[in-house]
Amino acid sequence: MGNRETLLNLLKSNQNHWISGEVLRQHLGISRNAVSKHIRALRATGYEIQSAPRKGYLLHGVQDRIIPEEIRDGLATSVFGQQEILCFTETDSTSLQARILADNGAREGTLILAESQTRGRGRKGRTWFTPKGQGIFLSMILRPAISPMDASRLTLLTAVALAESLIDSTGLGIRIKWPNDILCKGRKLAGILTELSTEMDAVNHVIIGLGINVNTPKEAFPTELKEKATSILSESGIPHSRCEITKRFLERFERHYTSLVSDGFPDLLDRWRSLSDTIGQRVCVEMIGKSLTGTIRDMDPNGFLILEEENGVRHSILSGDLIPLTGKES
Ligand code: BTN
Repeated sequence: MGNRETLLNLLKSNQNHWISGEVLRQHLGISRNAVSKHIRALRATGYEIQSAPRKGYLLHGVQDRIIPEEIRDGLATSVFGQQEILCFTETDSTSLQARILADNGAREGTLILAESQTRGRGRKGRTWFTPKGQGIFLSMILRPAISPMDASRLTLLTAVALAESLIDSTGLGIRIKWPNDILCKGRKLAGILTELSTEMDAVNHVIIGLGINVNTPKEAFPTELKEKATSILSESGIPHSRCEITKRFLERFERHYTSLVSDGFPDLLDRWRSLSDTIGQRVCVEMIGKSLTGTIRDMDPNGFLILEEENGVRHSILSGDLIPLTGKES
């Protein structure tokens, strides 16, 4: 743990109480000037830290800053969040930034987060709504030793890890809509964007981007999203800590990812099925240049969705948009 993290933890464990500069200095084994420098840096990231002669420093209130020190604090992972963590107040897109870093050799487990994005990207070139300070906008760099053919499993795995960790963190009824939507009561709460860089038949790196609507009030969504999107705040009625949600996700993700790379994660499909909003549903699948209508019967081990037309003909679908038709069939 770095000095700044230790300093922040000391201030937090004395939250709303004064702690003297001398105590901080002795605890960290650094000079008073160095203490003031770290305090200035923490203030610059938004912490409200009061200082007064002969009293020292006082941290006010509970704050939910997306900064490396907060993400690392109590994070039980070995790789994800233990490498470099870059947190932007604003950037174009965390996934674009991640790609630049990955192309320059950044290590697996590197994280890029932002309070807001000017070019937040969704699937198929869509834009991603990125209200400042209200959501989690995170991209992770992966360097998995798997074949590009198996890479679609990473999206399934991320969806399972995200759904499971959101259920744990919020208690909400969260479902997965194939391939990359996380829903609550039929509305989109989060999305996943998986981007692959391959060389010959090996995966060079993968960028997984997550957008999670955490503390977005209902009225803050633009008109075109009001009926389709939702947030944890809208569904639960209470604000949630974005850092805590991020940490619980990273822990769950790392466990599943390690299992995928080491033993193929045999439970993945069963977990996905049990969280799926898609199996048994009558849908129209819109793909590039064509569409199919039928009932979703299952997902195969490679992440292909099995759609059965009314005449009994089955199709394997790797990508497309699902438009739900009527209710579920058995
Ligand atoms: C989707 O459902 O279409 C996927 C949305 C993914 C959005 C996230 S926000 C963080 C990361 N940076 C981006 O530009 N996109 C992803």
